[in-house]
Amino acid sequence: MRGGRKDKMSEKKLIKPVYLIGFMGAGKSSVGRRLSRKYGFEVVDADAYLERQEGRSISQIFAEDGEEAFRLLETKYLEELSLQPRIICTGGGVVKREENCKIMKRYGFAIYLHVTADAAAARISDLNTRPLFKDLKSARKLIEERIPLYEHAADARIDTINRDLAYICRDVLWLLETNQLLVDYS
Ligand code: S3P
Repeated sequence: MRGGRKDKMSEKKLIKPVYLIGFMGAGKSSVGRRLSRKYGFEVVDADAYLERQEGRSISQIFAEDGEEAFRLLETKYLEELSLQPRIICTGGGVVKREENCKIMKRYGFAIYLHVTADAAAARISDLNTRPLFKDLKSARKLIEERIPLYEHAADARIDTINRDLAYICRDVLWLLETNQLLVDYS
């Protein structure tokens, strides 16, 4: 965590990868952006990284090659990103493959950002970028299927409903501190 006038967390660094997991619209990328901007953490958005490496958007990959092909790429890049201590904002379906859950357990610490389908729908500005968020009814069903998977993969959980980003980020910092995931770097 280097940089100008950041919070005093800037004297600390992560000892291993920390994964933000949760349903589409849980705020993983927004939390990641704030943790990077305000506290100077290295943060990588796994979906954006995959899109850059593949030179195609997620919607394109789903449309051209199907979900299974996307999932294989997701695992490949999850493991690649896990080789450095950093915050990794994962895609909402990362917990679908047990292999990904094992990667997260093996390398780091997973924080589950909890949201409901209704709250998520209100937050997602462009549903066209989410091939699996078709409508509210199917999102409600999907989230029910996913909740046990998030709980299985998570080392900790934060509720995001009706809560400001700043408070959610403070909860993340608290989890990092209390789980001894930060060390002094000077
Ligand atoms: C998916 C979530 C998306 C993206 C892909 C599949 C899912 O990520 O990885 O569209 O299966 O829930 P976000 O959670 O960042 O929207």
